[in-house]
Amino acid sequence: MATPNTAPAIETGRIAQHRTYLMCRPEHFTVSYRINPWMEPANPTDTALAVRQWQSLYDTYIALGHDVHLIDPIEGLPDMVYTANGGFVIDGVAYGAKFRFQERVPEGPAFMEWFGENGFQVVDPVEVNEGEGDFLLVGSKVLAGTGFRSTGDSHRELRDVFGKEVVSLTLVDPRFYHLDTAIAVLDPVEGPGGVERANIAYLPHAFDEASRAVLEDLYPDAILVSDADGAVFGLNSASDGRNVIISPRAKGFEAQLRERGYTPVLVDLSELLLGGGGIKCCTLELRR
Ligand code: ARG
Repeated sequence: MATPNTAPAIETGRIAQHRTYLMCRPEHFTVSYRINPWMEPANPTDTALAVRQWQSLYDTYIALGHDVHLIDPIEGLPDMVYTANGGFVIDGVAYGAKFRFQERVPEGPAFMEWFGENGFQVVDPVEVNEGEGDFLLVGSKVLAGTGFRSTGDSHRELRDVFGKEVVSLTLVDPRFYHLDTAIAVLDPVEGPGGVERANIAYLPHAFDEASRAVLEDLYPDAILVSDADGAVFGLNSASDGRNVIISPRAKGFEAQLRERGYTPVLVDLSELLLGGGGIKCCTLELRR
């Protein structure tokens, strides 16, 4: 069970920023098809356990003072719990998702409907993209993954929609098929006076050589996470700039975060890992 640290920020110098998230209760969660190497339809899943674990993540966000909105789960869409894939939202504009695999295609319009009903300006996507699963806002830039799900063309579309610098990165290990399984954004915002103090943690081996070189250049202070911690979805985490919600199995990453003055908060989503998702996958940031 999570034990959020709500002690004053002054202790570590890290400042927690308020976040607004979209989540989806996994009432219809199961593994009935296989679209990533983690999914094994022959293995049983426990939906009640998935809901309990999901609830502990929800409760953790609330205890940390964040706002969480909910989208209704739809029967027959077992992956809808992974709301990170539902779109990408900045400044009240929601760029919709267009899923790679048929099984998840109906989720795209369902999320766009929610965005529209909740006051977001919706941009209907032309290109295949899986939202915040592959797009991560880091300071003024968007890091964008390709290789397995979102296409390179979606990176261009993303640039046109938001007018931000988009940095394309290529994923090469099928276990880390979305960018949010290989990169954790620790400090998503820029520091005072426009100083870029945004930082990330990442799993070097999940990327091709050219992408690794780009990451080394952009983030010389990044935390490099071990293969062991990557393999338990340690990087699939959510940070408010101070508290970093991570898997309890990512022991090395937990220690690295502490050394840097972050407060790791441990939440176990083992049942949702059967679908190939973790903490970040279940969390979509809503930026107004
Ligand atoms: N079963 C889902 C899929 O393969 C898991 C999605 C995980 N989401 C994420 N943001 N990494 O599409």
